[in-house]
Amino acid sequence: MTTEGRNTPRRIAFMNQKGGVGKTTTTVNLAAACARRGTPTLVVDLDPQAHASLHLGVDPADRMDDASVYDVLLNPDDPETIREAIVEADENLFVLPSETDLAAAEFELGDQPGRNTRLRSALQSVRGRFGAVLIDCPPSLGLLTLNGLAAAGEVIIPMQAHFLALQGVGKLLETIRLLTTGERAINPDLTVTGVILCMHDHQAAHTREVVEDLEAFFAEAAELPGLPWSSARVLRPAVRRNIKLAECPSFGQTIFEYAPEANGAKDYAALAETVFGRPAGVISPEPRADDSSPPPEPATPEPEQSVSATTDGSGEDPVPEVRVVVSHNTRTQDGRGA
Ligand SMILES: Nc1ncnc2c1ncn2[C@@H]1O[C@H](COP(=O)(O)OP(=O)(O)OP(=O)(O)O)[C@@H](O)[C@H]1O
Ligand SMILES: [Mg+2]
Repeated sequence: MTTEGRNTPRRIAFMNQKGGVGKTTTTVNLAAACARRGTPTLVVDLDPQAHASLHLGVDPADRMDDASVYDVLLNPDDPETIREAIVEADENLFVLPSETDLAAAEFELGDQPGRNTRLRSALQSVRGRFGAVLIDCPPSLGLLTLNGLAAAGEVIIPMQAHFLALQGVGKLLETIRLLTTGERAINPDLTVTGVILCMHDHQAAHTREVVEDLEAFFAEAAELPGLPWSSARVLRPAVRRNIKLAECPSFGQTIFEYAPEANGAKDYAALAETVFGRPAGVISPEPRADDSSPPPEPATPEPEQSVSATTDGSGEDPVPEVRVVVSHNTRTQDGRGA
């Protein structure tokens, strides 16, 4: 078991206000990969749908009388509440489960002081137990997601490589910028680690173009230090569409339990290396034949301005707007417009 980072766990919020893009699948299976590498890992299920809890075999219907993340948000300063609520799902793998009542927290906490930082306060009392805390956010930008972003040190954006998804990413980055700057900043140190491409089709010209746009966007952002996403990149490998990943939640199992040989398990194990680093003594496998991804270093800025972060003209300070522009005229080649 590694003790790496046990006193300062990686705290990663998986966030995208768009629904059904792979947030929960990514949170749960990356957490499982992290746990299997020997790091005590906590999944925080901030979604009233409780999909991450169910995926990890914890059914809120079986634990109506037990504490959940809802109770934790109501009592953030009581260390007993969070300790009682955390459930062991597997070796090194724990979950702070959700429940449907969590939806009520949005308005119950609406006028409470420190309503956006309650999860952060509560996690303080258990931070020594975990090397990684992975937070599954709901598909909205409400109070629950804000609690996730306030508790996190970094954000990873799971997404599908579609043109309209790029606009969503722009909105999301704008939200993160608002949380990190100005008088009302709730988490000035929050950074964006990158994007994970979910349900990815390596063959489609359409998805390849979207990925190129994203990479160009992050390359431009790398030239604008001070943005929360200045160091962000497209994290590799992309997760291929794999039916086993869709099947395993109904068995309450991660992909590593349900189908360890499946492409889904290979992709999330490889992604865990990208996100958490390579475990000592492990030699990285050869790149996959179907993954034409570039090396993981930040890309060199391309002259083509397919997706843009705007500046105020001085080249130093980012202006509030995060402009996402798809400028290729070849977008209709697969039948879809920009
Ligand atoms: N790589 C994949 N291959 C096949 N199916 C996948 C893959 N990733 C996710 N899925 C399936 O796609 C659906 C949506 O995924 P998931 O629940 O992870 O998205 P989400 O962003 O968390 O959704 P929500 O916004 O509702 O919380 C689920 O049925 C999931 O099993
Ligand atoms: Mg989800």
